[in-house]
Amino acid sequence: MMRFGVAAVAVVFSVHLAVAQDFAAQSQSLMKANNDAIGVLVAIAKGDKPYDQAAVDTALARLGDGAAKMPTLYPDSLKGATSDARYSPSAKVWDDRAGFAAQISSFGVAVTDAKSKTKDIETLKASVGAIGNRCGGCHETYRVRNG
Ligand code: HEC
Repeated sequence: MMRFGVAAVAVVFSVHLAVAQDFAAQSQSLMKANNDAIGVLVAIAKGDKPYDQAAVDTALARLGDGAAKMPTLYPDSLKGATSDARYSPSAKVWDDRAGFAAQISSFGVAVTDAKSKTKDIETLKASVGAIGNRCGGCHETYRVRNG
C-alpha cells in the first residue's frame, strides 16, 4: 500500500512537470514569434527591406496575437519551473500579477495603436520605437537571464 502511494505521487509529480515544461515552451515560442515579427518591422524601418504594407500588417497582427495570448501563458503551476533556455520569467511574474498584467496590456495598446497609425516608413519608425519600449519595459522587470 505504501509503495503504491509513493508511485502514485511520483506519477502525479512527473505529469505536473511535463505540463509545466509544455507551458514554458509555449511562452518561449511566443517570445520567438514576437522577436521574428519585430525583426520584420525593424528591417523595413532601417531600410534593409522596401516598405511593404502587407508585411507590416502581418507582423503587427502576429504581435497582437501574442499580446492576447500572453495572459494565459504564465499559470500558477509554472512558478519556479526551470528551463534551459537563455531567459526565464522572473518570480515577479507571479508575485506581482497586477504589474505583469499592466505590462501585457500596455504592450497590447502599443500594438493596437501601431495598427491604426502605421502607413509609411516614418510612422513605422515611430511604431517600432513604441512597441520596442514595451518589450524592453517588461523584460527589465519580469525577465531574468539564466546563468
Ligand atoms: C509582458 C511582458 C513581456 C512583453 C511585453 C514581452 N516579453 Fe519577451 N519575455 C518576457 C518574459 C517573462 C521572458 C522570459 C521567457 C519566458 O517567459 O518563457 C521573455 C523572453 C523573451 C525572449 C527570449 C526567449 C528565449 O528563448 O529565452 C525574447 C527573444 C523576447 N522575450 C522577445 C520579446 C519581444 C521582441 C517583445 C516585444 C515585441 C517581447 N519579448 C515582449 C516578457 C515579455
